[in-house]
Amino acid sequence: MTHLSDAELDKQTITKAYARWAPVYDLVFGAVFERGRQAAITAAEHVGGRILEVGVGTGLSLPHYSRACRLCGVDISEPMLRKAQERVAELELTNVEGLWVMDAEHLLFPDNSFDVVVAQYVVTTVPNPEATLDEFARVLKPGGEIILVSRVGAEAGLRRSLEHWFAPAARKLGWRTEFSFERYARWSERTEGVRLVERRAMPPLGHFSLIRFAKDGGQDRAGARVPEESPAARAAR
Ligand SMILES: C[S@@+](CC[C@H](N)C(=O)[O-])C[C@H]1O[C@@H](n2cnc3c(N)ncnc32)[C@H](O)[C@@H]1O
Repeated sequence: MTHLSDAELDKQTITKAYARWAPVYDLVFGAVFERGRQAAITAAEHVGGRILEVGVGTGLSLPHYSRACRLCGVDISEPMLRKAQERVAELELTNVEGLWVMDAEHLLFPDNSFDVVVAQYVVTTVPNPEATLDEFARVLKPGGEIILVSRVGAEAGLRRSLEHWFAPAARKLGWRTEFSFERYARWSERTEGVRLVERRAMPPLGHFSLIRFAKDGGQDRAGARVPEESPAARAAR
C-alpha cells in the first residue's frame, strides 16, 4: 500500500534537501547521532567482512570501523558523497573499496554481495522504505545482517500528534518524523528468510532505535550452519 505521506517524500525533494545540508551536515548532525553510529559500527564489526553503508552521507562513520572491515558506500546525494570522498582521501582509509552515487532502492550490486548492510538515519528518508529493505536483503549474503539506526515514531500520545503536525515541514528538510516500528516488524514478517533479532533504543531521547535483521542460511563463526527459523517459530512471533 502506498501511503500519501510516502508519495510526498520524493527523490527530487531529498536530493535538493541534502545538497543544502552537505556543507553544514557534520556540524549539525555529527555529535547528536554519534552514539547511534557507534552502536551500528560495533554491531557491524561483530559480523565483519565486506560492509555496505547505504546513505553513507559525508562518511562520518567510515574512520570508526576497524581497518579489517572492507567498506563500500552509496548515497543518492552527490554533494554529500563528495564530502565522504574527501574524508577517505584525507584520512587514507584504504579499507574503503569505493563510494558511488546510487539509489538505495535500486542497488547496482549482485545478490549476496555483502556480509553486512548498514543504514544509519536513512530508511525514513527514502520514498519506499519496504522496497529499499528488500534491496538490502537481496544484496546481503546468507548469514549476514542488516543494521539500521532509524527514527521510530511514537505509537500514541502527544509526541505522536506533534510528529504528525511537523511531518510536512520535516519532508522538506529531507526525512519523516512519523514512522512506526510496526512497519519494520511487518516487513520482516513477510520477508522470507529474514528475521528481526534486535531493537534497542538510541539517543537523542530514545526516539531512535538500533534495529538488526539476520538473513538465514549462513555459517556461524565456528563453521556450523545457522538453523533457519521453522515456520512454527515464525508463526509464534
Ligand atoms: C540523515 S542522512 C544520514 C547520513 C549518514 N548515514 C549519517 O549517519 O550521518 C541521510 C542520507 O541518506 C541519503 N539518502 C536519502 N535517500 C536516499 C536514497 N534513496 N538512496 C541513497 N541514499 C539516500 C541522503 O542523501 C543522506 O546522505
